[in-house]
Amino acid sequence: EIVAHLRALRARQPVRYWAFYSSQLGGIVTDPALMVLPFDDHIVHRGHGVFDTAAIVNGKIYDLEAHLDRFLRSANLSRLPLPCPRAEMREIIARTAAVSEKRDGSIRYWISAGPGSLGLPPAAGAEPGFFVMIFGGLAYPDSWYTDGLRVMTTTYPIKPPLYAVTKSTNYLPNVLMQLEAQEAGLDNGVFVDEAGHVGESSNMNVAFVGEDGVLRHPKFDHILSGCTSLRLLELARGVVGSLLRGVEVVDIPVAQARASREMLLIGSSVKVAPIVEWDRKPIGDGRPGPLARALRELLGRDMHEGTDRLIDVPY
Ligand SMILES: Cc1ncc(COP(=O)(O)O)c(C=O)c1O
Repeated sequence: EIVAHLRALRARQPVRYWAFYSSQLGGIVTDPALMVLPFDDHIVHRGHGVFDTAAIVNGKIYDLEAHLDRFLRSANLSRLPLPCPRAEMREIIARTAAVSEKRDGSIRYWISAGPGSLGLPPAAGAEPGFFVMIFGGLAYPDSWYTDGLRVMTTTYPIKPPLYAVTKSTNYLPNVLMQLEAQEAGLDNGVFVDEAGHVGESSNMNVAFVGEDGVLRHPKFDHILSGCTSLRLLELARGVVGSLLRGVEVVDIPVAQARASREMLLIGSSVKVAPIVEWDRKPIGDGRPGPLARALRELLGRDMHEGTDRLIDVPY
């Protein structure tokens, strides 16, 4: 009867959760009703946990090492002990992907402080948890790529740098920003810092192509180090002289950003999408620009053919 209740939980939201590993369950399950955590795990009631998301592309895992680097950095900043060594995490992630049998999808994984109390610091002797979910990924409308997105400066304060660079399970500002944008009939929000420099979006980075043909990305000291942005910046440096005049990672004042020719949204789920309007004013000519498309294609090729960044899934 309890399992029937758990199964009914998503009756109104057909989910695409294909396989789930839990150190607490001791293995991998494929029935979403069994993809559960104990309520007293501190990741649930205190947000003491970290996560990361990577992609399965054409039967391979893309850029997992970069995502694991960030995951372990976040765990360290959150004072979370590792539930198992990195190599074992990598192996469990690949094995869970194999059980899903999916050749395209998303992989999200978490470290939790573990169960044992309802206090703040982890319970004495608490066992940290490790969880891996293979799922359908966040889907965005095609119109984001063909027509572009419309965004607003959020009224919610940007996270202080320590919390912004840590990918923890505390996404309240990010959630509020998306809700605020939705209510305004827009696609997403943008955080701006106290100095008036551009930050990032809810679960994506932003970057700009200036009238001078230079790709500019905000510094990563007060925003999340997007694995997609970092890789795209590397790829973009390879097309300086042809597609671009330069690549810079700098503080970007809002006024300078607004005067850009193109504004880009960048992330593992969205890849590269054009932003055509910010605070009801057009960016450039108000239409998706050529660099958004060219950089998306560059990244797309890397995701399919970047053999040094693709890990085999043992299907
Ligand atoms: C706050 C935030 N910024 C940026 C990103 C983009 O990072 P990535 O390219 O690794 O998906 C994400 C998503 O992970 C995020 O949550």
